[in-house]
Amino acid sequence: MKIIIINGPNLNLLGKREPEIYGSKTFNDYFKELKNRFSDIELDYFQSNIEGEIIDKLHQVGFDYDGVVLNAAAYTHTSVGIGDAVKGITTPVVEVHISNVHSREDFRHVSYIAGNAKGVITGFGLDSYVLAIQSFMK
Ligand code: DQA
Repeated sequence: MKIIIINGPNLNLLGKREPEIYGSKTFNDYFKELKNRFSDIELDYFQSNIEGEIIDKLHQVGFDYDGVVLNAAAYTHTSVGIGDAVKGITTPVVEVHISNVHSREDFRHVSYIAGNAKGVITGFGLDSYVLAIQSFMK
């Protein structure tokens, strides 16, 4: 099984960025833990701060991977382009957020991805990624 985690803007700062919301672990360290935990899965990781690069990556993986775990971060709430890319590919996408976007500002309650995603996982800290990966194993 081949799964990719795609992280959007500012998630390269995990560990340093607003640790009271996003925790103090870097994603690279967390990704090592995920690789160990899910050693049977071919798990890839991509991060970009650039909307078009996220769209290109979705096109690249979206017809042969078994699952995409997508934290489009702020683009979740703004990007028709990423929403359309999720709609246009055949690989199922699970939208994830570290924080509970529904308990935060109103603009975070909008998602251009959710309507075309397999499901949405929000608010479980970094465990949101674990839950998303597990959802592909059912
Ligand atoms: C986030 C929530 C978004 O609203 C925010 O813009 C992020 C991170 C999360 O994982 O909680 O950058 O996607």
